[in-house]
Amino acid sequence: MGETSLRVLVVGASGAVGGAAARQLAGHGAVVALAGRNQGRLEERAQALGGAPWRAFDAYDLDRCAGLARWACTALGGLEAVVVTVGVAGFGPVSEMPIPVSEHLFTVNALAPVTVVRGALEILPAGGAAVVVTGEIVDRPALGMADYAAAKTALATWLGIAGREVRRRGITVTDARLPHLNTGFAERPVVGRAPALRPGADPEESVARLVVAPVLTAHRASVEPRGTAGTV
Ligand SMILES: NC(=O)c1ccc[n+]([C@@H]2O[C@H](COP(=O)([O-])OP(=O)(O)OC[C@H]3O[C@@H](n4cnc5c(N)ncnc54)[C@H](OP(=O)(O)O)[C@@H]3O)[C@@H](O)[C@H]2O)c1
Repeated sequence: MGETSLRVLVVGASGAVGGAAARQLAGHGAVVALAGRNQGRLEERAQALGGAPWRAFDAYDLDRCAGLARWACTALGGLEAVVVTVGVAGFGPVSEMPIPVSEHLFTVNALAPVTVVRGALEILPAGGAAVVVTGEIVDRPALGMADYAAAKTALATWLGIAGREVRRRGITVTDARLPHLNTGFAERPVVGRAPALRPGADPEESVARLVVAPVLTAHRASVEPRGTAGTV
């Protein structure tokens, strides 16, 4: 593996955004490892990417979440970046949200991503990057989505502080605040039904700009000699 290789773990690679991120990163020459819950889809996507290593996990298994980056680092012979796209929606007024569903929303949308990144920050080198998907809901929390919005907001706050803490190690942490996309995400809630939503944006474009670009930018900055970035 060359000095400039970019090795990336994509957590949530069985989903729409994670799948697109893995495919786009591989298209840019990155070597990827995939993690997700649905084993069949992971295996299929790993094969389509030329036999990428993959690992199944559930967000509730926080020890496994914490170990994903270390697993990927071993599988790829090093690790420069981690992309985390796991998440699930939930709809309904606060007074009707069952406690186990509230726990589910906070676990999948906040605790699991936080734990994956905490594990990654132990091993990412200088120039490394963690890109984690939150959502525009953080800026515009909507009625009927209190637990989902609060979990994403907790994640966003954690990422902001983590990023400031690791900046001096040369690691960047990016909060990818995606707009509503036409991936069908809102039609797969753990509870309730989505309100009428405007049509979602094109996931490929948003993934390229908000998820993949920060990984590539951090990597380029880490491999280009000082003073040459931005020249042609
Ligand atoms: N699509 C949008 O409109 C939109 C807008 C803003 C933010 N986002 C965020 O973008 C991310 C990806 O969304 P998407 O559109 O790609 O939706 P998606 O296709 O439903 O992907 C969700 C991902 O989360 C994983 N996941 C869900 N529950 C899990 C659990 N208990 N344990 C482990 N993994 C679990 C899924 O795994 P399996 O598929 O293997 O079950 C899948 O990989 C989410 O964090 C979402 O909040 C989406």
